[in-house]
Amino acid sequence: MTVRLGDIAPDFTAPTTQGEISFHEWLGDSWGVLFSHPKDFTPVCTTELGYVAKIKPEFDKRNVKVIGLSVDDVASHLRWEGDIGETQGTPVNFPMIGDPDHKVADLYDMIHPNANDTLTVRSVFIVGPDKKVKLTLTYPASTGRNFDEILRVIDSLQLTANYKVATPANWVDGGDVIIGAAVTDEDAKQLFPNGWTTVKPYLRVLPQPNK
Ligand code: BEZ
Repeated sequence: MTVRLGDIAPDFTAPTTQGEISFHEWLGDSWGVLFSHPKDFTPVCTTELGYVAKIKPEFDKRNVKVIGLSVDDVASHLRWEGDIGETQGTPVNFPMIGDPDHKVADLYDMIHPNANDTLTVRSVFIVGPDKKVKLTLTYPASTGRNFDEILRVIDSLQLTANYKVATPANWVDGGDVIIGAAVTDEDAKQLFPNGWTTVKPYLRVLPQPNK
């Protein structure tokens, strides 16, 4: 199944390293990041899980729950977590879905047969509190993801969910933002009474409104 931006994230019940989870119920009112790994006991995945564990307080601060997945079972994940804690410096502190029958992987189209017909690619799905998919990313097995970029995207998603703005290239929290293209100058006067800079009629820049 292809999961696209704006779709309701497919719900599922699955075994995890922290017990059985029903995805939507587990998310509650939080944002969520669901991310897949090709396989347990593999080097790049080990570094990714260790890094996510290390920066989990950053996800917590943003009201985001993180959950991993690979096609191995929970017993294997739990054995692997020992190695991750030992080598990466932080114990895995979020649930990992065991998915040996590819139930969740198929639901989210995480197996790309022309890349590998049994292992998941490195997928990321960011889900909003409305359970809608806000971002999808797909990386190959050979390239570890940049989880600081995932945090940066979450900052943008959470800002633009609350203000009629968009964030420019390479924006980071605290940087100038752009008035959304659908907002007329007249409406912008009400929304942004402190004003903005018009670089072009379609490119109106202002300081981040919640800073
Ligand atoms: C890795 O995590 O290093 C990896 C996993 C599956 C295939 C290739 C690399």
